[in-house]
Amino acid sequence: MHAIGVDIGGTKIAVGVVDEAGRILAKVRRDTVADDVASIDRAIADACTELAREHEVGAIGLAAAGFVSPDRSSVLFAPNIAWREYPLAQRVGDLLDLDVPVVVENDANAAGWAEFRFGAARAATDMIMLTVGTGLGGAVVVDRELVRGKWGVAAEVGHMRVVPGGHYCGCGHEGCWEQYASGSALVRDARQAAVANRDAAARLLELAGGDREAIQGPHVTQAAQEGDPLAIDLLANLGRWIGEGAASVAALLDPELFVIGGGVGAAGDLLLLPIRKAYEAQLSALGHRPVAQVELAQHANEAGIVGAADLARR
Ligand code: BGC
Ligand code: NA
Ligand code: ZN
Repeated sequence: MHAIGVDIGGTKIAVGVVDEAGRILAKVRRDTVADDVASIDRAIADACTELAREHEVGAIGLAAAGFVSPDRSSVLFAPNIAWREYPLAQRVGDLLDLDVPVVVENDANAAGWAEFRFGAARAATDMIMLTVGTGLGGAVVVDRELVRGKWGVAAEVGHMRVVPGGHYCGCGHEGCWEQYASGSALVRDARQAAVANRDAAARLLELAGGDREAIQGPHVTQAAQEGDPLAIDLLANLGRWIGEGAASVAALLDPELFVIGGGVGAAGDLLLLPIRKAYEAQLSALGHRPVAQVELAQHANEAGIVGAADLARR
């Protein structure tokens, strides 16, 4: 059975028809506004209707960046989108002329599931996915099962406190891991560096058209790939936060593999090597236990679509 997977971001949605082998057969995008949740519903319904005209689909999976209810129908809370106890599946279903089940999954769970079934973690039994984007998402697979927790909200690793009294987080607390290990953190630090040290940030500023506030993650990646020392440092710092936190996660779950997803994956070894180094540096009992592998996601930006579609079939 083919299914539609929808990856819902703060500013855009990506929607695809996915076959049983995890291949995307067709794909469309729509822009959205993060604090207008009704516009997100309409964009999803519109895109699904368009794809369902050309493809027979049996289910729709919505990957949402928030805390999802255990019956897979609602978003209970989202730090970076205005969903609060929001019956997303029903709202989208009401706008659709299709008679198929609509289910909601956490975006990182969906991405992790895609990597576990069809991607970098195909051969693993115990894996953790970390999606490094606007927020920091997590998926936990233990003994080949996705861990959902009692109330559906397991693996919200982005909200583990790593810095008491640290940066404010969209969840209302301070010092959450995602305030240090996310694309948003990278951008915040890059803009800050452009204030503190204009000379070192010359290339970053140039890529951003001279406007510090226009610096984005891909600018940092590009500058780093060109050899820019500040950009390399910014990515290494991000990698350190990811790797150190991953070592804490390993204290709890002992995975064989961490899969790193999200846009910053484009930085490749400039991010991966610092992650691995910090992970080992912070891992308890190093030398007396195997060290989990850290690899990049294989589905890049499409993992959410693929995983949401596949989970919707289950
Ligand atoms: C949210 C998660 C989400 C992650 C990645 C976090 O802020 O709490 O639900 O998976 O961002 O989008
Ligand atoms: Na998750
Ligand atoms: Zn938080």
